[in-house]
Amino acid sequence: MDRLNGPANLMIVSDLDDTMVDHNDPESLSLLRFNALWEAYYHPSSLLVFSTGRSPTLYKQLRKEKPLLTPDIAVMSVGTEITYGESMEADDDWERFLDQKWNRNIVIEETAKFPELTFQSETEQRPHKVSFYVEKNKALEIMRTLLERLEKRGLDIKIIYSSGIALDILPQGAGKGQALAYLLKKFKVDGGLPNNTLVCGDSGNDAELFSIPEVYGVMVSNAKEELLQWHAVNGKNNRNIIHATQRCAAGIIEAIDLFNLGPSISPRDVRDFSDCKVGVCYPGHEIVKFYLLYERWRRAEAEKSGSYIQHLKSVFHPLGIFVHPSGNEQPLHLCIDAIESSFGDKQGKHFRVWVDRLLSAQIGSDAWLMKFDKWESSDNVFQCCRTTVLLSSKAKVPGGFTWMHVHQTWLDGLGDKDPTTWLF
Ligand code: GLC
Ligand code: MG
Repeated sequence: MDRLNGPANLMIVSDLDDTMVDHNDPESLSLLRFNALWEAYYHPSSLLVFSTGRSPTLYKQLRKEKPLLTPDIAVMSVGTEITYGESMEADDDWERFLDQKWNRNIVIEETAKFPELTFQSETEQRPHKVSFYVEKNKALEIMRTLLERLEKRGLDIKIIYSSGIALDILPQGAGKGQALAYLLKKFKVDGGLPNNTLVCGDSGNDAELFSIPEVYGVMVSNAKEELLQWHAVNGKNNRNIIHATQRCAAGIIEAIDLFNLGPSISPRDVRDFSDCKVGVCYPGHEIVKFYLLYERWRRAEAEKSGSYIQHLKSVFHPLGIFVHPSGNEQPLHLCIDAIESSFGDKQGKHFRVWVDRLLSAQIGSDAWLMKFDKWESSDNVFQCCRTTVLLSSKAKVPGGFTWMHVHQTWLDGLGDKDPTTWLF
């Protein structure tokens, strides 16, 4: 990836539904814990890859509903579509490669002979993916017959069954595992292989990810029967694959810890940062920590004390300036006054704050330029400001940082936003 100067420290390749995203957790707490960990320590030097069965349409929809980070690479439609970066630039070479021994029309013709197969929605039918629903007790037999018939007609395909209901037909060269192998090969040629790769999944279409050599793997605790069965047959001697004890993103954090892949304590799990030594040399940790303290203050989860506010104040330079997204400028210390009076204004509400795409550049011996997207969700309305912060490590607290300057811009133009609801 062009974003990194050399090989990634860690590359996480994760499925979304029931792996990164826990649909049983309306607050998305484990996802937010993962986000804080990733942005505080990993993002500048590591790669995040989402590998989902969803088409681009349903993937984009999920990103509007859940606090998902922006991945470096999105592998969609069960490894048949790959895009890069925030702009989601498509990998056309990959799609061309998938044309080999593939013919969609023949797949449609042959599958029409099975009344038990029900077409999934139009959005999930893709150039290299034809998808159905079929009951568990019929799936195996249909897969066997269909594979035979399609091979007889000259196609080289694979059929994948997931979540005890979804059946996907893809070119043989496609799939989440093949897409990962393709990416790894690309990295080998330019930039270098990641130092470590961790794959994460819960269902049938994730199985291939775990068969890529030299990767660590985590099947989250809530992994489906079909994946656990696959593992029992194909992977049980591989000590680099674990079945986590925790659900979804919490299982991913568990694996980072178990395989010793780097820091594994999410800043969200730290109550008292005065004892926390691990963030000291990570300017990203400073940003994540500050917004967590801010969230806790507004949710009334912090103790309403002068020392808490004093602490927030102590990280702001007395002459620092905040450029509000509305364009208004004010001294940083006045922001703290506004934050002080907002104690508990989000108590009992769905209010969460997270940062995404956090990059840091050291621009002097003690100066860091931080750029990130600061997100707030308040009762399911998401708002975002692209934010730049100048940090100095010449702080009063040893190992701490001082905020010198903050500048924010609404990500999607001013629109109908009420500037008074955006504090910092
Ligand atoms: C996602 C896709 C669906 C696919 C399933 C299993 O839910 O939307 O089309 O069948 O993943 O791969
Ligand atoms: Mg899944």
